Amino acid sequence: MILNFITLILLQRLVWTVQAPGAIYNSINHYKLSSSNGEQIPKEFYLSIENSNEFKLNLQRKLLHFLENIQKNLTISTVFGSFQNDSPNAAKYIHRLQELSMFFYEASYSVEKFAIESEKFFEIIKITSNSLLLKLRQVPKAQPTHVKLLLTNYFSEMEFFHIFFSEVIDEALEYTTTILQTIQKLFYSYADIQNGILKNWKLKHNLECCKLYADFLHHHSARIFKCATADKLQIAFDLYSVTKINAKYIVKQLEFRIQRLLNCINFGSYSIRCPFLNNAEGDFETLFNKLSELELYLNIKMKKSGIFVTNIRNHNVNSDLRKLPYLESSQQACLLNDFPYNQMSKQLKECFYFFNSQ
Ligand SMILES: *[C@@H]1O[C@H](CO)[C@@H](O)[C@H](O)[C@H]1NC(C)=O
Repeated sequence: MILNFITLILLQRLVWTVQAPGAIYNSINHYKLSSSNGEQIPKEFYLSIENSNEFKLNLQRKLLHFLENIQKNLTISTVFGSFQNDSPNAAKYIHRLQELSMFFYEASYSVEKFAIESEKFFEIIKITSNSLLLKLRQVPKAQPTHVKLLLTNYFSEMEFFHIFFSEVIDEALEYTTTILQTIQKLFYSYADIQNGILKNWKLKHNLECCKLYADFLHHHSARIFKCATADKLQIAFDLYSVTKINAKYIVKQLEFRIQRLLNCINFGSYSIRCPFLNNAEGDFETLFNKLSELELYLNIKMKKSGIFVTNIRNHNVNSDLRKLPYLESSQQACLLNDFPYNQMSKQLKECFYFFNSQ
């Protein structure tokens, strides 16, 4: 992503430097060819909004009605019509319990997908802002001196805005991915713990034990699910949505400014069509205010989440989290100390062959 970004800058610089003053018409044609119907915003920007939003909806669908579903899936009378304490029935029930761990693996995967797509989107916001900035470079160079000065000034203001914009988007990205990674790891570890219990501790195949363990899982799954989703995931969704709305607005405003500037230059009647050029600062003021508001919002939300962002520039959602099923307890406020061992009753522990053999 960063490489693409640099390549983009280098390419744009190159385009600018090869434009000799005599090539004004070429450059105008070039500009007209590369933008359809005055659209200055790359289509990737909108595609990426749609894409990340789709993954957000997928995740929301996956988590919908969790509490009802787990109730339904684990209630013994819905699993069996009759209540016969035999081994096949128990095996069937254990299968249900395995499905629950599958659910958490899938939920973890779904969180990861959303994290990746929202990260992509945030990167594309920055690239879009930069490519809009570079459109100003396509303005033909042969301009009266005082207009050139005004243009330089306008460019600096927009460049300054782009830098601030990118910083705020980086913050949004950092906060969102930190929260999502935390939840992803939490779901994954919880699924792994369940898997490990069934595989290594070995539940006795009798319905009393199954029932006891199912109650345990029911209680803790609901607790962990609420802990992860009630505030943290909601905060990640809010951060994503508010950033998206603001970025859309800002990018459209930037597009408007570019279009207005290009029109003004093309028609050449500077004093009538380009009064905004005399006051670049004033022209960007509302956008700066909008950004400051967004930044404030991000900071307040982040404080609320209780998650601290430590490695600001050093994260990567794609890094292989799956190699680390068990994580430091500090990352897992929702998993209690020494879960599940300390939370199990003596009676429940006796339901596992593992503890009987000790
Ligand atoms: C409930 O069971 C269904 C079908 O057996 C499964 O697809 C779903 O993931 C389960 N949900 C939970 C929360 O265990």
